[in-house]
Amino acid sequence: MLAFIRGQLISIAFVVFVLGLIFHFIQFFRLTRKKEWAYPPLEIKSQKKTPGQWVTSCLASLNGTLWKTYPVVTVMTSVFHVFLIGVPLFLLGHNMLLSQSWGLSFWSLRESVTDVLTVVVIVCAAFFLGRRLFLARVRAITTAYDYLVLLIAVAPFLTGYFAYHQWFDYRTVMTIHILSGVVMLITIPFTKLGHMLFFFLYRFLIGTEYSFARGARAW
Ligand code: HEM
Ligand code: HEM
Repeated sequence: MLAFIRGQLISIAFVVFVLGLIFHFIQFFRLTRKKEWAYPPLEIKSQKKTPGQWVTSCLASLNGTLWKTYPVVTVMTSVFHVFLIGVPLFLLGHNMLLSQSWGLSFWSLRESVTDVLTVVVIVCAAFFLGRRLFLARVRAITTAYDYLVLLIAVAPFLTGYFAYHQWFDYRTVMTIHILSGVVMLITIPFTKLGHMLFFFLYRFLIGTEYSFARGARAW
């Protein structure tokens, strides 16, 4: 059983993760179609801007966004996401395993650095948990599912931290760490963690008030 968890299960999780995302990517294009414009879309004439005007217009475009309303949440969520994705990719322990099994690895950060960044991710997750628990307006739209998704995202960081510091029984903690990593990978395509893919598809391809682009597709 242990050999299975530490061996094939990890490969199965990666395959489900990649195929799941590819499946949803294809489904997105099957279920949406090109918008038929009732009238030709307006041609927006782009004016030549000086660097100063460009910076001002970029800052102005942030006015209606989360950045203006909740700057602290924006900073926390940006930090959380950058390290949530970056730390496991550039972690020495992971890259050593990758190079042993597949003969490839990413460049690794120093362990003392990834250890601190792991704590940063955990602190950000604690901040999101605190908002959901203590802010009435956030609690009102929170269900058990939101807590579960947050737990799935943070569990590999908590257990990875315990493993690195050799807290509790190392082998047991490592097995739980692998299981939590596997659960994260497998659930990404099939839960709201799929926003990792859908964020980009919706924001760039579907026309809504939150679009970054013109949004040429519709359901
Ligand atoms: C699925 C298979 C995985 C395996 C086999 C694995 C294996 C490992 C190993 C060997 C270590 C080093 C422990 C030590 O130094 O003693 C580690 C640490 C760590 N892992 Fe994973 N891991 C997996 C998935 C993940 C995932 C999906 C994440 C996060 C998205 C993650 C986050 C971490 C972190 C943050 C640490 C380091 C904590 C620290 O240094 O404070 N791991 N993992
Ligand atoms: C690169 C792709 C990703 C983008 C662009 C992205 C974007 C976002 C955005 C815009 C939010 C809403 C703002 C907020 O409440 O913080 C959010 C929330 C969240 N994301 Fe991501 N995300 C990505 C990848 C991931 C991944 C891979 C995970 C974990 C596996 C994840 C976990 C979460 C969680 C747990 C929340 C909710 C935090 C809360 O409870 O409020 N995200 N993400």
